[in-house]
Amino acid sequence: MLATLIYRSRLHNALDPSQLTELAQQASLRNTDLNVTGVLLFDGKEFLQVLEGPVTAVNAVYERIRHDERHADVVELLRDFAPNRRFLNQGMVLFDLRIDKPGVVLRSVIKFGTLKYHLACNDRVYKFIRNFVSAPKPKPRVKNVIPDRWRLDTKNSPFENVTVPLLDDQPCQFAFQPIIEPVRGNISSLEALIRGPNGGSPQEYFSTIPSHKLHEADLASKGWALAMARQLGIGNHKIAINLLPMSLVKIPGAVNILLEHITRNKLDPEQVIVEVTEDEVISSYDEFSFAIRQLRAAGIGLAIDDFGSGFAGLSLLAKFQPDKLKIDRSIVTDIHQHGPKQAIVKAIIDCCAEMQITVVAEGVEKVEEWCWLEAAGIERFQGFLFARPVLNGVSAIRWPKRIVK
Ligand SMILES: Cc1cc2nc3c(=O)[nH]c(=O)nc-3n(C[C@H](O)[C@H](O)[C@H](O)COP(=O)(O)O)c2cc1C
Repeated sequence: MLATLIYRSRLHNALDPSQLTELAQQASLRNTDLNVTGVLLFDGKEFLQVLEGPVTAVNAVYERIRHDERHADVVELLRDFAPNRRFLNQGMVLFDLRIDKPGVVLRSVIKFGTLKYHLACNDRVYKFIRNFVSAPKPKPRVKNVIPDRWRLDTKNSPFENVTVPLLDDQPCQFAFQPIIEPVRGNISSLEALIRGPNGGSPQEYFSTIPSHKLHEADLASKGWALAMARQLGIGNHKIAINLLPMSLVKIPGAVNILLEHITRNKLDPEQVIVEVTEDEVISSYDEFSFAIRQLRAAGIGLAIDDFGSGFAGLSLLAKFQPDKLKIDRSIVTDIHQHGPKQAIVKAIIDCCAEMQITVVAEGVEKVEEWCWLEAAGIERFQGFLFARPVLNGVSAIRWPKRIVK
């Protein structure tokens, strides 16, 4: 099977034109040995490279290229399969846009390519090349969010790894995890993540409950979450709780029950955010809408959780505009190296800006992920990078601090 891989990257340590020609010649020899073909384009600042060949050979070459210090911000744009090679007998052809005009480069690419002209113009790989050669370049990333300019520090954390004892008869536990605005040094909320009596996962806990009692148990558990939040001394911080959407529909007076839990724990409804996903099919949208209206009327916030995981989708967003949308970790992981994920997140940011919805990125584990997302315009983050969830407690927050050189 023939694999195709396209990436773009940024020149790091200056290469002069003669070095670039030599680099491409060496690459071409190595690629030919491995049966890899392709093209390398350079515009003075950025590279775009197409690699094609057997899957394992393309992966091996790309792994080496990815770690080459002569370029940085290597972002994978496409991994695909093709019936034929596009660049037959071309180990690696270099096109230098500082020397050659865009029209000349595009004509040469087509000439080198093995596809017929009309096919080439509609070919996705050709479109990536055409876009690199002639489209306006995206704005450079914001300067102050370059990964190696930051370090993480727990100084001035309001929660110094506090834990609280369980309450009498408490059937489940909670691990609390902060959602923060790193640049402002602000905590936007704490999320209460449900755990079983032995600290097991939510699935494990809910699997012990008979299905006809599931929604009742779900709603009741929020009372314990709010009680623990109060014990932890959340003060004026917001508290986010997860709720199965159907708990709001199936339990009569669910919103009032939730409001009782809130007032009993001396919290303000406006401090509480209910997070929902579509993992439980919302079979009765009308009743669910009614419950959401009640929640909103009481001042309780609404967030769509795990957006992009397959369970929280566009239909939920179209029907119920939430206050917050939380981008799932599967999209956040390694976003700094992944073009398709970047395109999705940019679209989510634009869409939410138009609807005045706050975007939160979940599952942030690497400084590079945070820097990319922050530069793209996201301000709120949750993840191990800043604070891990702690059973019946909250960990100290690792704030990013700018390194002064
Ligand atoms: C922009 C750019 C493109 C490159 N393209 C290739 C390539 O197509 N094939 C290749 O073998 N090496 C390529 N290299 C060089 C590799 O990164 C690496 O230096 C080379 O494969 C030798 O790897 P090694 O020192 O681990 O053996 C490229 C480097 C850069 C900066």
